[in-house]
Amino acid sequence: MSSDSTKKTIMVALGVCLVCSILVSSAAVSLSSIQAENKQVDKIKNILAAGGIDYANNDPQQIYLNRIKPVTIELESGEIINPEEKSDLLKPKNFDINKVSNDPELGEAIPSSEDLADIKRKPSYMVIYEVMDADENIEKYIFPVHGKGLWSTLYGFISLDSQLKKVEGITFYQHGETPGLGGEVDNPVWKNSWKGKIAFNDKGDYIIDVLKGKVDPSSSEAYRQVDGLSGSTLTTRGVDNLLKYWLGENGYKPFLENVKAEGSDEKI
Ligand SMILES: Cc1cc2nc3c(=O)[nH]c(=O)nc-3n(C[C@H](O)[C@H](O)[C@H](O)COP(=O)(O)O)c2cc1C
Repeated sequence: MSSDSTKKTIMVALGVCLVCSILVSSAAVSLSSIQAENKQVDKIKNILAAGGIDYANNDPQQIYLNRIKPVTIELESGEIINPEEKSDLLKPKNFDINKVSNDPELGEAIPSSEDLADIKRKPSYMVIYEVMDADENIEKYIFPVHGKGLWSTLYGFISLDSQLKKVEGITFYQHGETPGLGGEVDNPVWKNSWKGKIAFNDKGDYIIDVLKGKVDPSSSEAYRQVDGLSGSTLTTRGVDNLLKYWLGENGYKPFLENVKAEGSDEKI
């Protein structure tokens, strides 16, 4: 067979393709556990960031273990549950929002009239995080939130003070919005502007509005308003809606009401 015959060319090309595909698939398989671990560490860093916990120069996983207590709750009743009695999927270390949402036993469809976050299905259970102080008291709560922006579903956390009144921090750990536009949800200045905003009125209704435009600092409503992202009305509206959903009655409101009721019982 001559060295430039068509048959030989095709065989060499097929051989190269085979070797490359074996290399790529073995790299994908061998790196998948590292990728999963990196994803987990990234999530932990975002939980700490939402809770305003500085992890620079320290091992974030160690700080997470020392300071954060994950708790599984049932959304409808707002009760804390023991995942051991329900399903392994509800254990904090296994919890995956999409897996649980899509599970027929553990998730449910959201009627379109209620689907403010545009997510179609929700988990019936969620893992939330309590931030503990040195005396083992709850210092803050961190709640996972997610919902549609313009191009993607944004996944993040909002943290509230121990009185469940004020925002302590907000962060998004996964989204596909455009860098410089909707991607400005990652801008530290914008994230910082949430700190101290009053999230609930006396009736326990979530009251923060993310505006289209800037907050007028002299307005009497500025305490519950946040600047919109400029040139990104659709992502801004998505963020506003997803927070209204998750901090409302179909989200964490029953849990928030339970915690407040327990707090007032303890004072009696
Ligand atoms: C390439 C491209 C990417 C865009 N990415 C976003 C985005 O991530 N989020 C967003 O809200 N708007 C994005 N927009 C703009 C929207 O299409 C829309 O014009 C904008 O949300 C309107 O916001 P405004 O009323 O503040 O100008 C993008 C536009 C283009 C052309």
